[in-house]
Amino acid sequence: MNGKSIAAALAAVALGGCMTTTRDTVPATTTASADSIDARVAALLARMSVEDKVAQLVMPDIASITSDDVRRYRFGTILNGGNSGPGGNDKAPAAEWLKLADAMWEASTAPRDDGRPVVPLLWATDAVHGHNNIPGATVFPHNIGLGAAGDVDLVRRIGQATAAEIAATGIDWTFAPTLAVTRDDRWGRTYESYAEEPELVARLGMALVEGLQGRQGTPEFLDQRRVIATAKHFFADGGTGGIDQGDARGDVDELIALHATPYIPSIDAGVQSVMASFSSINGEKLHGSRAMLTDLLRGQMKFDGLTVGDWNGHGQLPGCSNADCPDALLAGLDVYMVPEDWRGLHASLVEQVASGKVPMARLDKAAGRVLALKLRYGLMTKPRPSERTLGGRFETLGSPEHRAIGREAVRKSLVLLKNDGVLPIKSSARILVAGAGADNIAQQAGGWSISWQGGGDLTNADFPGATSIYRGIADALAQGGGRATLSADGRYSERPDAAIVVFGEPPYAEFSGDRRDLAYRDATSLALMQKLRGDGIPVVAVFLSGRPMWVNPLLEASDAFVAAWLPGSEGGGVADVLIGDSAARPRHDFTGRLSFTWPADCAQPVNNDGARTALFARGTGYGYTAPPPRRTFATECALTDNAAQDSVPLFDRRVGDQTRFAATDPGGVAPLDNFLGRSTQGTLIVRGIDRNAQEDARAIRWTAPADLTVHLPPLAQALPERAVLVIEYRVDRRPVAPVTLSGRGQPLSLAEALTIAEAKGWRDLRIPLACLGPDTPGSLTLHSEAAFAMEVSALRIEAGTGPQTEDCSVR
Ligand code: BGC
Ligand code: BGC
Repeated sequence: MNGKSIAAALAAVALGGCMTTTRDTVPATTTASADSIDARVAALLARMSVEDKVAQLVMPDIASITSDDVRRYRFGTILNGGNSGPGGNDKAPAAEWLKLADAMWEASTAPRDDGRPVVPLLWATDAVHGHNNIPGATVFPHNIGLGAAGDVDLVRRIGQATAAEIAATGIDWTFAPTLAVTRDDRWGRTYESYAEEPELVARLGMALVEGLQGRQGTPEFLDQRRVIATAKHFFADGGTGGIDQGDARGDVDELIALHATPYIPSIDAGVQSVMASFSSINGEKLHGSRAMLTDLLRGQMKFDGLTVGDWNGHGQLPGCSNADCPDALLAGLDVYMVPEDWRGLHASLVEQVASGKVPMARLDKAAGRVLALKLRYGLMTKPRPSERTLGGRFETLGSPEHRAIGREAVRKSLVLLKNDGVLPIKSSARILVAGAGADNIAQQAGGWSISWQGGGDLTNADFPGATSIYRGIADALAQGGGRATLSADGRYSERPDAAIVVFGEPPYAEFSGDRRDLAYRDATSLALMQKLRGDGIPVVAVFLSGRPMWVNPLLEASDAFVAAWLPGSEGGGVADVLIGDSAARPRHDFTGRLSFTWPADCAQPVNNDGARTALFARGTGYGYTAPPPRRTFATECALTDNAAQDSVPLFDRRVGDQTRFAATDPGGVAPLDNFLGRSTQGTLIVRGIDRNAQEDARAIRWTAPADLTVHLPPLAQALPERAVLVIEYRVDRRPVAPVTLSGRGQPLSLAEALTIAEAKGWRDLRIPLACLGPDTPGSLTLHSEAAFAMEVSALRIEAGTGPQTEDCSVR
């Protein structure tokens, strides 16, 4: 790649007025004099040891450090991952976050008697749709909804509100905005993306940066009400063919034009950090790409803040491990996100500086960037977190003002795709509110909400102050003399005037959300809608999803259809648009417009490459003044049933399509969304753990008799004879009571296999389905009679590999 063509690509995509192509400013330093910051950085560096400087580059997770570690190592920065919270509790209340922030700050500023400088640490979090890790915070719609709203001023206000909520808990920095331009909606992070086109991503991303950090060149920039923003994940994370952490392939200049140019307005707005993407460009991982991290980002794009790696992203470079990776630093990465292996990484970097493998100049440059950021942010003179302007102002979290912004965002993000006249609903009407998503705040919030994956065992109680979609409808109807009745399964005793059915994707984050296709399969909601309509009740469908999906059967089965994305905590915004006054005059019209193409065909995943015919083109959005045309929707799906497929994944980093997990104990049956969560009485708990990648495996723990059931997808049931269930697993301690697997026949004992496997590490268990009974089962159930624990990293059914003769001695 040559520099000229990069410059040309950058210039060619200078968009409207908002993208400057004059790349000769040094944006991040314009408020405090650059000279004085440089001089102060140099003075600090001169007093720091190599160990101190390296510590500025090491970002551990709060789950893996104590304040003593901080006092000893003096890390420059720390983070809380999506599943980490104070004291190991990711549902900890705000006060505990602030207490931990104080403790960490105090440890990092403990006096030193050897003349080495005292440099406070910075704490970073993933506040990606509000301060979403904290119970009671305002949870805004995920970016895909904000893309549909398309309102720059709104996004700026969301940034400002989020900054205030973060500051209240004593945290300094958020890993947002995501500037991904998602080109294939099968990607599990599609909802983190504002749009499939760079222009809108650029404008809204810049607005969030301005809201979070304040406007550069004004006194509000990085003042005590603001936090540090991160543009991520640099770059082309959305160009990997729908595969998380994948490879974006193609002409580099075209990739830059599409995926890197949205960073320009954010850089111009003074964004202080950029996160490297896990993904690769033409086979080269971004974490190790000097061409991209240094030549492009620094050289061409003139970014002078700091670059931070993603979660052990450096460890994925060839020849690297989480604890040893000079190549990332040499390529231009400044801060390593190294949640657990910080001790080893610190030691290896110190040694590599001593041996000359890492030049001192490179170390100084990287550490200097961390220090410069701290100076610009005023950290050296800020008091402890709880004593800062907003520190401890917990009333900021979920304040009425912030919730009002959230509700406005929800209202503006809704996209009306169909309305045969049922909307708006009169506020005097009697409405049945049905569907699994109707009174389910965890589902409407999606991933990155309290926990990393969201959903699972979260209940409405985990979102204090939030409003479910049902609650918002009930409130609106109560005002007009109408009434809402909640019934998740749609049964009713008194015939309603209309039904609103809320349904959609269960929560997921990152690779857990990657899909093979975009066909939305939900026989339950479809049957429910068809039944209601059969009863002559008009049906309004409210679809919760992180992406457009092929939903034609549901469009066909409804009288009105609203794409509501992942609206977050302020579900009342849905009723604002659906429910009119008592004369059915709308209180608000729909203004949302698709920022993604809606697929016309269930087998057609790719956007924008010219190959895709849209059911609804990007920009579509109807409303009361511009109603959608009446039409019919073709409901056939061309996806074959893949009878020839030789392996059907049930779990492979993520749950397989149309596969469902559930846990049963004496308290009843509990669904395990994402193969995570707990049984009703908590006797069976499934947690995410790391085998080769983050949360790519599951720890399953029984404390008393309980069943783990996997409902097989039709594909697995259609596999020919001699199919085999393969379980990749590990057992630390053999079971003390029977453990069995059953399908349609006699339970099969796994005792021998699990005993042999004890403490032997990861291995495979292969069980011919024929051993589970004569007929192909619809589900498989793993039962333990007593306390037992095992880990599973993959579950699949392979066709035709079973033994000819039945050998059912499983070992
Ligand atoms: C953490 C997340 C992180 C993920 C890495 C999880 O265990 O909680 O914050 O993003 O791993 O993919
Ligand atoms: C994600 C990032 C996130 C980081 C920290 C990673 O897994 O890719 O988006 O900022 O974890 O939680």
